[in-house]
Amino acid sequence: MILRETIDEVKNRLDIVDVISDFITLKKSGQNYKGLSPFTNEKTPSFFVVPGKGIFKDFSSGKGGDSFTFLMEHEGMSYVEAIRFLAKKYGVEIKETEATEHESAQQSEREGLYILMNYAEEYYHNNLLTHEEGQSIGLSYFRERGFNDKTIEKFELGYALNGWENFSKEALSKGYSQDLLEKTGLVVKKEDGSSYDRFRGRVIFPIHNISGKVIAFGARMLGKEKNQPKYINSPETEIYHKSNVLYGLFQAKNAIRQNDNCYLVEGYTDVISLHQAGVDNVVSSSGTALTDEQIKLIRRFSENVTVLFDGDAAGIKAALRGIDLILKGGLNVRVVLFPDGEDPDSYSRKLGTTDFQNFLKSNRKDFISFKADLFAAEAGGDPIRKAESIREIVTSIAIIPDPVKRSVYIQETSNLLKIGEAVLLTELNKILINERKKSEKERLRNTDEPPPPSDPIADVSEPTKTDASSMVQYQEKETIRLLLNYADEALEDQKVSDFLFHELEDVVFVNPVFSEIFEGLKEGWEKNESRSSHYFIHEGSEAIKSVVTDLVAQRYDLSEHWGDKYHIHIPREGELLNEMAYTNVLRLKLRIIQKMLEENKQKIREAEGMGNESEVDSILQTQIGLDQAKKELSELLGIVIAR
Ligand code: UTP
Ligand code: MN
Repeated sequence: MILRETIDEVKNRLDIVDVISDFITLKKSGQNYKGLSPFTNEKTPSFFVVPGKGIFKDFSSGKGGDSFTFLMEHEGMSYVEAIRFLAKKYGVEIKETEATEHESAQQSEREGLYILMNYAEEYYHNNLLTHEEGQSIGLSYFRERGFNDKTIEKFELGYALNGWENFSKEALSKGYSQDLLEKTGLVVKKEDGSSYDRFRGRVIFPIHNISGKVIAFGARMLGKEKNQPKYINSPETEIYHKSNVLYGLFQAKNAIRQNDNCYLVEGYTDVISLHQAGVDNVVSSSGTALTDEQIKLIRRFSENVTVLFDGDAAGIKAALRGIDLILKGGLNVRVVLFPDGEDPDSYSRKLGTTDFQNFLKSNRKDFISFKADLFAAEAGGDPIRKAESIREIVTSIAIIPDPVKRSVYIQETSNLLKIGEAVLLTELNKILINERKKSEKERLRNTDEPPPPSDPIADVSEPTKTDASSMVQYQEKETIRLLLNYADEALEDQKVSDFLFHELEDVVFVNPVFSEIFEGLKEGWEKNESRSSHYFIHEGSEAIKSVVTDLVAQRYDLSEHWGDKYHIHIPREGELLNEMAYTNVLRLKLRIIQKMLEENKQKIREAEGMGNESEVDSILQTQIGLDQAKKELSELLGIVIAR
């Protein structure tokens, strides 16, 4: 048992901000700190640390507690493991009573696995440095690859002697049980009950968890034996879940936080070579496609990932797949492609530290430029291929969960490819609506499943942003509000819904969520079934539900309240309906035209820049038409407003 005084000493020395910062990026916020919840996939920070009280509170998952609770919840440690971990971190000597037989038997299996893995790591490492075979075969291999002593120490590289039971004999003689040897996967049990060492005659790459414990090994062969895999890796165990681990993260995490960027490479040797070239913020998913869990791991330290890939066809394909996965995880992606035939490992050695670091800096592209360049090269001047490449880019943008980021990327694409934002938005909305329909169908098929997680949309509740696009979206929202609340009420000679749908026949909404609600309402109207808010609240995505409930809740209680208070007659919304429906249509059209005018101005500038006069002329014609329409609408609105 660990003595009380040890626990008290740990408690005295620890600093919760420091403890939690090993796992999550925290920013100071007044007296406290905040960051993204590691327990959910949130986009805005609701994880708070209160250093004065030594506690954390995560408002998005509801979890909270002290440093020990955090390590238990986040790292899956037991209470005892958490104490040991913190004692080590703060240099507190652990004093404990002699373990009784019963207690040692009870010592958790996990702890046993960690201890044996740690022993194995030291054993392989010692072989590499001091055993004759280790030196002549393993060490000379690493030397050939250009790994220096510092690197070999930093990554605790090792060597497994060639033979069937070198390791198991040694470990058994040190008192580790056969059972434990098998549970770590270091020893493989045969059908007949006999067993042998998994790693033989290979160099060893220990794999650490985020807090630095060895949880698995990768082992590379040295010779060229044909029917042998290049790498043998530890199997899944109680402490090693491949999809949850990134090779090199333990060594890289602080650098990732400091640089606010994480380089992602393919293999063990790429990670190690980059470190040697002075690039410390690098991890590898070790040969497999990145998993959601791995992306979440990176997110704890930075939202920016730069993927490094070979410049050959396979590398490019892998890069494209990787980009979409990372975008889906809510991270920003950049890409560096290497010259054909080079990987980060070979190229860093070829260029040397300074040139390599410069190469990374000057060759990284965000994913839009990367895709644009890639497809531009393929398409040449072919306009159909160009359209395809635009769709490719927009498809990637559609994967990004955060709508604000989506709109930023749309803008960037518009600037880069010289295409109007409206065109891109229409394309984006098509994809998003299709996706939603698909996932909705999927969900309805498995009715047991809970609704998909909420997808907050860009909030345009107030037209505080005065750019043309926000103004349009504000008015779109108002249109939906009128339809949801008053669709069936009568205007002078028709219903609100008839009026609005006729007037807005050709209008495509900019905002994807509003667009989907509008199209849904229109579909109901066309089929002559009236769709109330309930329809969307039952059938819609989380984003739709949230918009619809907001809009329905937003009745003008205020005016009634005022009426009571000041004894003046303030017309209720229903009474004003005629005017509201009419002005809404005019305003929406006016704002769409203003948006088109802005885009048109940009087009003129571009055409002028390219010296294309006939193009300038025809755009100017459009401009004149739009100006005229704007004037007419403004006048109509003016009349209504003055009434
Ligand atoms: P590579 O074949 O590129 O390996 O596979 P590498 O690490 O760059 O090795 P060198 O340069 O030939 O020494 C990339 C990654 O895929 C995984 C490993 O994680 C490797 O680092 N891999 C590859 C395996 O797990 N098993 C294999 O048989 C091959
Ligand atoms: Mn390689």
